[in-house]
Amino acid sequence: MALPDSFLQELLAKNDIESVVSGYVGMKRRGRNLVGLCPFHGEKTASFNLYPETSSFYCFGCGAGGDVITFIKRIENLDYMDAVRFLAERAGMRMPENRQENDQTSRLRLRILEANREAARLYHAALYRPEGQVALDYYHRRGYTDATIKHFGLGFAPAGWDYLLKGLRAKGFKDEELIAAFLAARGRNGGVYDVFRNRAMIPIIDIRGNVVGFGGRVLDDSKPKYINTESTLAFSKSRNLFALNFAKNAGRELNLCEGYMDVIAMHQAGFTNTVAALGTSFPEEQMQLIARYADKINLIFDADGAGQKATKRAIDNLRRTGLDVKVVTIPDGKDPDEFIKNNGAAAFKLLLERSANAVEYRLLEIGKTHSILTPDGKLAYFKEAAKVLAGLDSPVERDVYAGRLSEMLSISKDAILQEIDSTRRRQQRASRKQQLPNLVRQENKELRQVNPEAIARPRAAGAEESLLGTLILHPDYIKQVRATLSPEQMTTSFNRQLYTRLLDRERQGLLVELAFLAADYDEDGMAYISRMVRDARERAVSAEDVAGYAAIIREEHALRHMDNPAEASDEDIQSMLDALRARKTKK
Ligand code: UTP
Ligand code: MN
Repeated sequence: MALPDSFLQELLAKNDIESVVSGYVGMKRRGRNLVGLCPFHGEKTASFNLYPETSSFYCFGCGAGGDVITFIKRIENLDYMDAVRFLAERAGMRMPENRQENDQTSRLRLRILEANREAARLYHAALYRPEGQVALDYYHRRGYTDATIKHFGLGFAPAGWDYLLKGLRAKGFKDEELIAAFLAARGRNGGVYDVFRNRAMIPIIDIRGNVVGFGGRVLDDSKPKYINTESTLAFSKSRNLFALNFAKNAGRELNLCEGYMDVIAMHQAGFTNTVAALGTSFPEEQMQLIARYADKINLIFDADGAGQKATKRAIDNLRRTGLDVKVVTIPDGKDPDEFIKNNGAAAFKLLLERSANAVEYRLLEIGKTHSILTPDGKLAYFKEAAKVLAGLDSPVERDVYAGRLSEMLSISKDAILQEIDSTRRRQQRASRKQQLPNLVRQENKELRQVNPEAIARPRAAGAEESLLGTLILHPDYIKQVRATLSPEQMTTSFNRQLYTRLLDRERQGLLVELAFLAADYDEDGMAYISRMVRDARERAVSAEDVAGYAAIIREEHALRHMDNPAEASDEDIQSMLDALRARKTKK
């Protein structure tokens, strides 16, 4: 399943990490490296580092790290083969033949995507058959033009049990593939039938143009209103947004709506920078996806109770993205679709312009629970408001809002700023307290999972990791080390394996570089190795250091076998003696 080295080398040469990463993250040069905001966790100060010299990245905030393939795996949510394929496409290269067939999962994933694409065609075609007239009328009644229907590829799943099955079987799809695609299901009696029946069909298309799933809406008021594709090999709700394929090219400001229909209406009215969350939980992953394509986001949710809850959830999950958030409330409990239908696009534009930003929104919310007309209420409002303003990182913003509060509450601006400051200090202490164990726990978790034996023998493992990091950073040391240290002398199996791989590549005259390890390690493994490389880079290791690491590893290995001299080799005994001598002279 390994790809030929020559292919990988060409792939890496044509996808230099700097240009690939810059497509996702704004990077600034700092010395020989580049820094930017980490796309893998929310942050406001840049801790994501790119090292062109070693074609690698490392985030000091969340520990993500690796080579360009690992980067694509993570950011595009692809497995190794698909990440390679992605980069090959990007560089206009062909994948080596017959390799992809080995990989059953990625083949099934491709089949699902093909089935989805054909399904979208069949659903769309059904609109123009006699039985599809009801659906076409339905779209027209909702005000969607023929151009819109075509643009979004809207369609219709006819009633009955096998419209799609028949169509796709005829194109060579197997029932199991259609079940894996969530297009068909198997009943209790073993029969297979269409999942979507008698529904208006809305294809969900990812940023690469793949049809990844569908939303299917009833044409009347029956329940459930929607059936949506559930998780498949090709689709995860939390990693997609409806219409992002169109909206991603519409500038750095996005509108986020609740429903498919809202998005369709918004695009038709000219607001092509609109997407919908799939579902109502607005997971942080989805918000991070938005942050990749936008700096500003407008939350456009229904004014009803559910919409307000959704707004709060979204604001919470957006806090760590650093996006500039505005909340658009639509009057009279309408959704954007209805509002535009009744009042027109121009009115909606006004609404967008006038809407409050997230801070104003939260202040308004506080105003609903605390009346500032009574002294008690005023005090409570003041305390709550200070908490909101304390969360603002920009001193200018804090000052502006403090000024407004001062007028509103007739409290001096200084007193307000003071309260904000002390709340801020309290919040920061609390969050540091919260984060520190998190970070430690995170690193420990990685340790335990990736290199579990390292915990028990920190001295040996530490030297091994320093050495391995250095060898990846400076492969020219490998020859020197090989002569004095064998893989068996390393204490953890992870380190032993990594060392063996490096020796093998060097022996075969192949390039030693992080990217060539990506096929053998998962993301945690790559992050772990990148951390070794990062540490080595920061220590600016010399040839003596390298010899020193090797000596410690030999020593520790020898000491482990001291209990059992029968098992110790001559070499071990020599190292043991050296070690003891070294300890004596130190003291
Ligand atoms: P809405 O009920 O607001 O739907 O749900 P809508 O898209 O605006 O549809 P119309 O205007 O009534 O025709 C918002 C979103 O919540 C999800 C869908 O993604 C929908 O677009 N939803 C809603 C479901 O997944 N299942 C449901 O049964 C209802
Ligand atoms: Mn609606």
